[in-house]
Amino acid sequence: MKFFIDTANIEEIKAANDLKILDGVTTNPTLISKTGKPFMEVVEEILTEVPDKPVSLEVASTDCEGMIKEAETLAKLGKNVVIKIPLTIDGLKAVKHLEYNGIKTNVTLIFSPTQALLAMKAGASYISPFVGRLDDISHDGMELISQIKTIIDNYGFKSQIIVASIRHPMHVLEAALIGADIATIPYKVVEQLAKHPLTDIGLEKFLKDWESVPEKPF
Ligand code: G3P
Repeated sequence: MKFFIDTANIEEIKAANDLKILDGVTTNPTLISKTGKPFMEVVEEILTEVPDKPVSLEVASTDCEGMIKEAETLAKLGKNVVIKIPLTIDGLKAVKHLEYNGIKTNVTLIFSPTQALLAMKAGASYISPFVGRLDDISHDGMELISQIKTIIDNYGFKSQIIVASIRHPMHVLEAALIGADIATIPYKVVEQLAKHPLTDIGLEKFLKDWESVPEKPF
């Protein structure tokens, strides 16, 4: 299972990279705007820190021609740039064109299995179903991931599932149990994954007991 980090914050990306478990980065306009920095500055920082793993950058146009133009510009910034395209009719046409021309795409804002099926048929390298936003409106986000996984297993589509809109460690656990290819995780949740109160209590006791061990070598 691959771990992407879902942020445009360079400090968080560096911290995740330091853990040596980072397999890629996903951004979106909201995450870029949170940095308060110019778009190109943010992108250059990210591509310098992560030059050889997939970095998803989202287009801002909504028409097919505009998306393709933006995608071609963004793709020139790095060989690892993946173009994030929203799941719309124009978006699907753009995905088909871009993938045919060797530019990798990540179809975003997927909320139903049939949307995912369309993105896979268009040839998307990655598809991003949003689990947290479905949970927010009382739909089972993880059920969507199971359904998409079944469709992939039925037909052998090459698209990789990126479980997106992750809010807590249970989303990551369930994604792993279902067998999703990738989880794109906010940095806060990466930290939560490592935490367990029994680990803290256990470590405290070991350190205390270590004090009474005689003739320690270190
Ligand atoms: O990057 C897309 C997705 O992960 C957004 O998450 O928390 O805004 O629903 P969220």
